[in-house]
This record gives sequence, C-alpha cells and structure tokens, in this order.
Amino acid sequence: MGFPKDFMWGAASAAYQIEGAYREDGKGPGIWDVAVGKPGLIPFGETGNVACDHYHRFREDVAMMKEMGLKYYRFSISWPRVMPNGVGEINQKGFEFYTNLIDELIAKGIEPMVTLFHWNFPYALQKKGGWFNDASPDWFAEYTKQVVDRLSDRVKYWITINEPQVFLGSGYGRGNFPPFITGSLTEQFLLVHHVLLAHAKAVQIIRNHAKVTPIIGMAPTGPCFVPEDDSEEALERARQESFDFDKDFALFSNSLYADPVFLGDYPDRAYEIFEEATNIIKPAELSLISQPLDFYGANIYYSLAKPVEAGYPANCYQGNPKTPMGWPIVPEVMYYAPKFLYERYKKPILITENGIAGFDFVHMDGKVHDPYRIDYTRRYLLQLKKAAEEGVEVAGYMHWSVMDNFEWLQGYDKRFGLAYVDYQTGRRILKDSAYWYKEVIERNGENL
Ligand code: BG6
Repeated sequence: MGFPKDFMWGAASAAYQIEGAYREDGKGPGIWDVAVGKPGLIPFGETGNVACDHYHRFREDVAMMKEMGLKYYRFSISWPRVMPNGVGEINQKGFEFYTNLIDELIAKGIEPMVTLFHWNFPYALQKKGGWFNDASPDWFAEYTKQVVDRLSDRVKYWITINEPQVFLGSGYGRGNFPPFITGSLTEQFLLVHHVLLAHAKAVQIIRNHAKVTPIIGMAPTGPCFVPEDDSEEALERARQESFDFDKDFALFSNSLYADPVFLGDYPDRAYEIFEEATNIIKPAELSLISQPLDFYGANIYYSLAKPVEAGYPANCYQGNPKTPMGWPIVPEVMYYAPKFLYERYKKPILITENGIAGFDFVHMDGKVHDPYRIDYTRRYLLQLKKAAEEGVEVAGYMHWSVMDNFEWLQGYDKRFGLAYVDYQTGRRILKDSAYWYKEVIERNGENL
C-alpha cells in the first residue's frame, strides 16, 4: 500500500519565472517580457528580467536539487529564447543553455521533464495575432520540432502546454494577463481550438521524431469541487460540477480542453455555449486533437467554491484557512481531483504542480523555517496517497516550486519555493520544507 514503488518525486519551475537573462545571448522578447513594463500592472513594477538568474546559476541550482533529493525536475523551455521570432531563425546560444542544463541534471541523476509552453509566447508572433492566427498550431509545431531534434536524445518526459485555462482564461477572456484581450465567445472558441491543435501537432512530432521513446502529457489546471458531505448525492454533485461550466467560466474549465483531448470531442456544453463558433471544427481535427497521451498532468492547488449571490461561496466559511495567495486550503482536493479525473479520462494522473506561497524570511539562526509548507504539503500528499490506495493510478508529484520565483502579476513577495532566494545577493537557502521533502522522497511517502 502507499505510493507505487516507481512514484515520480520532483519539483517544478517555469522559464520566465526563474531564468532572467531576458535579452541576453540572442533571446527574443515574449509577451511577458513586454507586458511587465506596463505601469501599475505588478505591485512594485517587478519583472522577470533577472528573476532568480537561473540562466547563469543553473549549475548551482541543479546541485541544490540534488541536495533536495529530487528524482525529477520539471522545467519549461522559453520559446522566444530558442527562436527569437517564434519561427524561422534558431538561437543556438539559447539551445546551448538547455543542453547544458539537461546534461547537468542527468549527471546528477535527475530526470528532466520538459514543458514546451509555459505562457511567455513570442512577441513577434503575438504581433501576428498570437493564438488567433490560423497558423499558430503550425508555429508551435515548428518550434516543437526544433526542440525535439536537439533535446530528445536525453529528454524522455514531455508536457506540451501548461494551464491553457489560465493563459487563455486570463489572457484572452478576462483580459488581466498578457496579451490583455477580452475575446468574444466566438473568439474564445477559436483560441481553444487552436491551442488544442497546437498541442496535438506537438504530440505527433514528439511521437514521430523523439530519439528516446517519449512519455507525453499536458498540464492543465481546473476546478475541482469536493463533496459537501459523505452522501452519494454530494459526491455525484461534486463530480458533475467539476466538469460542467457556464459561459463566464468556460475557458477555466476542465472538460472544454480535456474532453476533446482524451475523449475525442468537445463536451455538449461547449456546443451549447459557443453555438455556431463550433462550426469551425473539422472532423479530422477531432481525431488529431485526441492523439493518445501517456498521462494526465494536473496542477492542483485548491477546490473551487461556487459563487453564491451573497455571503461566502459554497465550501467556504468565515475565517476558513487560506494561503497568502488567498486560496482556500482544501487538502481533500488532492483526493477528489485525481479520482474524478482518473474516472473520466482513464489515464495515470501526474501531479504536475502543487504547493503553497508564503512570506518566508531568513530567521536569526540563518535558516528558513516554513512549518506551514510542511504541514500543507503533508496534508495534500496524504490525500494523494489515499487516492492511490483506492486504485487511482497516480504517477508522481512535482512540487511547485523548486525555488522562490516571479509569481506573475504578484511579483516576488509570494514565495512558493522549497529553496529561498535572496534576490539582493542571489543566494539560495534550502528551507526546512526542502529537507523534509527529501525524506519524503527517500521513504516514498512512508513517513507522511
Ligand atoms: C503555475 C504558475 O503554472 O500555476 C504558478 O506558473 C502559479 O506560478 C500556479 O502559482 C497557479 O495555478 P492556478 O491554477 O491557480 O492558476
């Protein structure tokens, strides 16, 4: 019992959030590089220009990962770093960075897991309409081919796209993330369809060209409701709500993306909401989009609570525990989300992200004590273990994040890392949670 023997233990990051070197060695601009200059966007006008300076400190960072006992490291490739215009010209220096990083990981016995797209879309292609452009799936395919040609002799684990819910929902729906567009429903559907076609073309390319047999998935996030009580009705209601959506919430839902990818068609609700916009779907595209995947990657942080007219949303109550991000702490979501996703999509569940932000600081003894992170992670992992023991295939767990980093519109105050980063000096300090996690990894979660 407990976690499977080959359970994948690791931690995650994303290029724009840690690398810095934003215009070094031939890197092109991405939409986040451009957006961060917008007055008032980020509390103190912070940027990812330097971030954790991982671009220069990656060797030290990999040594630190080794010290944490990580077996896997999930990171993303910056598309505009390796292809400054998104298509066409290749930036060899950019590829050199990832080649060196991967070599360093392998030398330290850490398995690399590559995410192809974690939000910093090439600005040159944004000027051509970004994901609105019919050519966007082919742009992504071209980029994927270049990455696969250079890195697939050593990379086995691939994640195509991180959280389409967030970069489309916030970037093109609510318009509070770059590229700051509030798209009509018709436009929203077009975007979803293009992103899924891009994902599918990338999967095909990885399958057909990877030098080492690949293991492929994507990393969506999505709402999960937990039952309000122990009854069968509550369980069924939570299950339904976890996959249903209305027009305001469509872009943030699970099933709008996952149903076509894993079940071969958009959910009925999509046809109702987007109406004639769905006429763009060609039958051959549905079979393309549903390329077989090896796992369901899931970024899981909290349970979505249904808004009510007045007062607290369902699942919330006065003073309910929250993280500094304002996210309710609901460990049970780490049981119910994998369970519901596994039942519906029947693929092993890989937790591609989970973690908690804190306002960590260096204590008088020179250490960073973060007992709340240990407690949070322990509670969530116990729920994941319960899911595994009840028959849900859980493949692994990537903690978000390996080190403190640029938390998008929130800047640097919210620290998600297992390692503390002193942004003044660049110094890293392993937090208590990193040492605790190391033991969890060593004992395959037996000590939880
Ligand atoms: C990640 C981001 O993909 O999602 C993190 O890169 C972030 O920085 C996390 O905290 C948040 O997930 P969600 O699902 O709440 O948007």
